[in-house]
Amino acid sequence: MLSGKTAVLGVTGGIAAYKAADLASKLTQAGATVNVIMTESATEFVAPLTFRAITHRPVVTSMFELTSEFSVEHVALAEAADIVVIAPATANTIARIAAGIADDMLTTTVLATEAPVVVAPAMNVNMWQNPVTQENVARLKERGFVFVGPGYGRLASGRMGMGRLVEVTEIMGTVQQVLGRKGDLAGKRIVVTAGGTREAIDPVRYIGNRSSGKMGYAIAEASRDRGAAVTLITAPTSLPAPAGMETVSIESVVELKAAVAEATKQADALVMAAAPADYVARSVAAQKIKKGSAALTIDLVKAPDVISEVTGSFLKVGFSAETENLLDNAREKLTRKSLDLMVANDVTAADSGFGTDTNKVTILDRDGGTEDLPLMTKREVADRVLDRVVALLLPTPPNTFEVRLTGRMIGAGCIPIRKRYRQLFPEFKSPLTLVTDAGKIKSTAGRSFPDALELRKGLYKWFKAHPELKAGGTVRFTVIEPMRQYRLEILEA
Ligand SMILES: Cc1cc2nc3c(=O)[nH]c(=O)nc-3n(C[C@H](O)[C@H](O)[C@H](O)COP(=O)(O)O)c2cc1C
Repeated sequence: MLSGKTAVLGVTGGIAAYKAADLASKLTQAGATVNVIMTESATEFVAPLTFRAITHRPVVTSMFELTSEFSVEHVALAEAADIVVIAPATANTIARIAAGIADDMLTTTVLATEAPVVVAPAMNVNMWQNPVTQENVARLKERGFVFVGPGYGRLASGRMGMGRLVEVTEIMGTVQQVLGRKGDLAGKRIVVTAGGTREAIDPVRYIGNRSSGKMGYAIAEASRDRGAAVTLITAPTSLPAPAGMETVSIESVVELKAAVAEATKQADALVMAAAPADYVARSVAAQKIKKGSAALTIDLVKAPDVISEVTGSFLKVGFSAETENLLDNAREKLTRKSLDLMVANDVTAADSGFGTDTNKVTILDRDGGTEDLPLMTKREVADRVLDRVVALLLPTPPNTFEVRLTGRMIGAGCIPIRKRYRQLFPEFKSPLTLVTDAGKIKSTAGRSFPDALELRKGLYKWFKAHPELKAGGTVRFTVIEPMRQYRLEILEA
């Protein structure tokens, strides 16, 4: 989930420094390249060797050990970082960063980096509540630093209070959220429901179902990681609350309906991965139902159908857990409930459905299309469902667009394609043909920066054939054959 990303993990001199080893491990396991920078005080608490063994990378502890194998150019880590995480962050380091001090490798890196910085403070409650610490934190927040925690709990001093380092899972969630800010769901609001509802029959008993909530939580986390503002409406589950989103807890289908109505007021999409009850008790007994000799009959009435009854102009994605006639049942529900997408899930298949970490689903759309996915992790399923949500949410680009030329493009013989038109072109490195007045040019879709394209191959010659083209001129691309052939013509030299 973090593959291809480079993280600086700053560890400072607090009791919680040992917990940073777990964070280093989680970041590494998620695929990130982790460069640990320790303050001198931090090395009093944990040995650099610990982080070196976990990250398989040198650990930087000094700016001036130029002969050491760990030596790096003083701003190299700042420039390479996609994200900087300081955990635990001492009051001292927070104060030094707020003051712009750069007298060790960590503070120098923070001052020099353009990457987002996540700060997880941990300190004694009085240090945290001290107005000077609070002023420093406010100043850094104003400048865009993202704080996670501290939490409330037992501190190293034995006292209870604010000052504990938050759980590593919460720091990881915040890292994912911050890195997702530029994702394809940035600026979108997604509401996700998860888990099986509980319908009371008396004060101690309920009718429930086997939904574990894992699929919904995976969708909520994947939406967050792609930049969406997420509201997760969750029935009781045994899963830890995901970080970086609003979480609303509900129990019954009636509560679910009210929470969905409220949360979708400003939503772009609703993904109903929860398993709401279809039937609820006509009346809930006021006292515990006593065991008797006769059989017990509970009168059930139809529950509200949350996804059909909620109104608004957002996308609706349903999940259909079936034990028979999977696709027919799912298609009938998609039509009857006016959904945009339906994810059909055969819960009788091995390794698929309730409680498992993997799922085998088919995605149906309202145009009659079916996308049959192989068995994959619930997180992978979540991303495939969200790919479809993104495609429906983004306006379809026109099949023609213009590019205003710069001196660099003409000089280097390249034309960058803006992200908006990315989907008109094939995968990176795939061959394509440009039909021009100087004949056909065989080119490729090349990578310039993440999610953008740059056409380079063959263009140098074409620019050479058109010396009249100057910076400020405009060229037009028109799709002749999607993903293969494009017309390239001069609009204005
Ligand atoms: C045993 C011990 C535990 C400490 N725990 C913390 C702590 O949890 N949080 C904190 O802000 N400072 C704590 N300190 C104080 C810092 O270590 C001290 O302010 C130090 O200068 C921080 O340096 P650094 O920010 O460069 O890592 C502790 C000091 C000692 C001796």
